[in-house]
Amino acid sequence: MTSPSVLIQNLHTFGLPIYAERVVTAESSEQLVDVWQQAKQQQYPLLLLGEGSNMLFLEDFSGWIVLNRIKGIKISESENFWHLHVGAGENWHQLVRYSLEQNLGGLENLALIPGCAGSAPIQNIGAYGVELKDVCEYVDLLNLDTGDIARIAAQDCQFGYRESIFKHQFREGYSIVSVGLKLAKQWKPVLNYGDLRQLDPQTVTPMQVFDAVCAMRSSKLPDPKVTGNAGSFFKNPIVSAEIAAQILQQFPNAPHYPQIDGQEKLAAGWLIDACQLKGYRIGGAAVHQQQALVLINQDHATSHDVVALASYVRKQVAERFNVWLEPEVRFIGKFGERNAIEVLA
Ligand code: FAD
Ligand code: EPU
Repeated sequence: MTSPSVLIQNLHTFGLPIYAERVVTAESSEQLVDVWQQAKQQQYPLLLLGEGSNMLFLEDFSGWIVLNRIKGIKISESENFWHLHVGAGENWHQLVRYSLEQNLGGLENLALIPGCAGSAPIQNIGAYGVELKDVCEYVDLLNLDTGDIARIAAQDCQFGYRESIFKHQFREGYSIVSVGLKLAKQWKPVLNYGDLRQLDPQTVTPMQVFDAVCAMRSSKLPDPKVTGNAGSFFKNPIVSAEIAAQILQQFPNAPHYPQIDGQEKLAAGWLIDACQLKGYRIGGAAVHQQQALVLINQDHATSHDVVALASYVRKQVAERFNVWLEPEVRFIGKFGERNAIEVLA
């Protein structure tokens, strides 16, 4: 077998110099099934890719990459809701902007999240008090072996914090082909996070929330077009009340968010920051100065640099706080996805 020869540095937001065997663009379900069958016949692993904004490639990928670029946005209405049927390959932020231009509020808190609309349900994207599950009506899922498309209602998607059924039961052999969103005609602003609290719920418009979210994000998160990154590298850890209490005794100001089952969600960025790791660098990879939860490709980083840095950060936080962070980013090895915790251990 020859070594992979197609450079995919621009197809994932970390911008690492990674090669794959082949890159194919699919604009329909039929094309997706066709490529899947060809790859199977020729015994190549196949990786679906949106915009590569939640990926860490650990090494060159000895398989085919399929970019899902199924397009189209259809809007319909019922008595109380607007319904959007969106092709999986639409860009998420452009969809948010387009919906606001049509005077449909509801997606504004999720502005500027990179990636495709079809990837949004996979980790139930969330920001500034809203998650995809709050606006999702259904997900259309293609079985790549049979060509059948099943409509999964939102209540059956097992949405949780950065979680869904698409990371488990429907992870292999399926592609999301479209997403159905449901936006209430009676718009209610969600203003319970950060600077959004300063807005007046009586007079604020969806576009003003959108602008405020874009301003907050731009001040903290690096633009992947300028500095490679994959957003929050780790998830915010959910810990027992006892562990949270131990941390809070020492640091009463540590951010913490009570969960319904008595556990507490901690801010991973705060934990990393408290270990004085902002700006810490291994090779070309570094902890972002404005947001410690984001690992960046500061200067020609390799996958090895990012893994070494992530592993170091994780161990420092565990030593100091007795909390082991779990990566949010998906790790991709030579033949497909790897268990991120095993890679960092
Ligand atoms: P990819 O990274 O290309 O793929 C993600 C996973 O989905 C992979 O396993 C891939 O194989 C699989 N996949 C892709 N397309 C399909 C498909 N059609 N069917 C089935 N499987 C598929 N996330 C948040 O939740 N909130 C944030 O605020 C946020 N901010 C971010 C900020 C920055 C600067 C960056 C770089 C990332 C941020 N993220 C955030 C993470 C990322 O944007 C989301 O996870 C996004 O949904 C990933 O979309 P993508 O198209 O790039 O997916
Ligand atoms: N904090 C620090 N130092 C830091 C970073 C954060 O002290 O270096 C503190 C902040 O001051 C704040 C708390 O930690 O009190 C939380 O920080 P922030 O509001 O920036 O949010 P986050 O928890 O770090 C999460 C999501 C983001 C999402 C934002 C806004 C996860 C893993 N990350 O970040 O999502 O945009 O909230 O809602 O849940 C992503 O998933 O890729 C992502 C960027």
